[in-house]
Amino acid sequence: MGEFKPLVFSGVQPTGNLHLGNYLGAIRKFVALQENNDCMYCVVDLHALTAQLVHDDMPTQIRSITAAFLAAGIDPKQHIVFNQSQVPQHAELAWIFNCVARLGWMNRMTQFKDKAGKDREQASLGLYAYPSLMAADILVYRATHVPVGEDQKQHLELTRDIAMKFNIDFMEKIRPTGLGVDITVGEEPVHAYFPMVEPLIDGPAPRVMSLKDGTKKMSKSDPSDLSRINLMDDADAISRKIRKAKTDPDALPSEVDGLKGRPEADNLVGIFAALADKTKAEVLSEFGGQQFSVFKPALVDLSIEVLAPINAEMRRLMADPSYIDSVLRDGGARARERAEKTMNEVRDIIGFVR
Ligand code: TRP
Repeated sequence: MGEFKPLVFSGVQPTGNLHLGNYLGAIRKFVALQENNDCMYCVVDLHALTAQLVHDDMPTQIRSITAAFLAAGIDPKQHIVFNQSQVPQHAELAWIFNCVARLGWMNRMTQFKDKAGKDREQASLGLYAYPSLMAADILVYRATHVPVGEDQKQHLELTRDIAMKFNIDFMEKIRPTGLGVDITVGEEPVHAYFPMVEPLIDGPAPRVMSLKDGTKKMSKSDPSDLSRINLMDDADAISRKIRKAKTDPDALPSEVDGLKGRPEADNLVGIFAALADKTKAEVLSEFGGQQFSVFKPALVDLSIEVLAPINAEMRRLMADPSYIDSVLRDGGARARERAEKTMNEVRDIIGFVR
């Protein structure tokens, strides 16, 4: 039994402002994973074209995700921070995966159905192939662990299906190269070139909901800016948005059970807990019985305490785009080296002459 070398990979699209949900749900997890893992964090600019082709602020969007990574504490020297378009091997492997993935698999992708909406004829071919490119992002480094939100679980299952089909279809070509690893998938022994990726789903991180509607996810596409706290919001904006957040008239309960049927209260308590690195139960043992008029100011203070340093560092970094670009160029060069090694192996396995 062999083992793939552990490698963490994740991607964030450069579309719209990053908000508290992205920070607590993804970026903070990326930061924590650095301690014990080799990590690669990618600004997936090729994916950004799938829903909308032309973006007038593309460079700013790419730099601001990068700035958020760095401001949150990702170390681009120890790990790799880069943008996808600087590593053409992603698109190259995606083409091969387009020939591995079956139409039946792609037709099941719920995110495509949601994003394409009613007028599916007008959706881009790229939007349909999006999960295949995502599989390539991960597998071009033979990454093993992928921190993502719940909504990306199906795409990671597809990534495993693609890896599995490639491994099985090419098994007898992989064997003589000596590049494969003996693994078992379920009960089945497989001589694999690509690992079966493991999702690292939310864990203790909360699903951060809209400040205006506790049943909807906090989203960068919500037309109301009051519904979310952006990482670029200053202290005044944070304070205003929390004070205006929707609540109900009751005091906070003393037990987590009492949050049932109170989505807005549940959301604000969840945000407090995540920012304070506590459980909801611990937060309620402190604030149970208190009114929102007491809880909200405490949440404002805590939010500003955690987010203001990140915000200040993001602004400092955004004022120096040439530094950000140099980080991406350096990360891109290191990523290309790894990706090209995989692609040469894939070319040999397939039998392309080189
Ligand atoms: N689809 C992911 C999202 O929307 C972004 C993404 C693209 C990604 N490629 C990836 C995430 C590879 C993890 C790994 O959130």
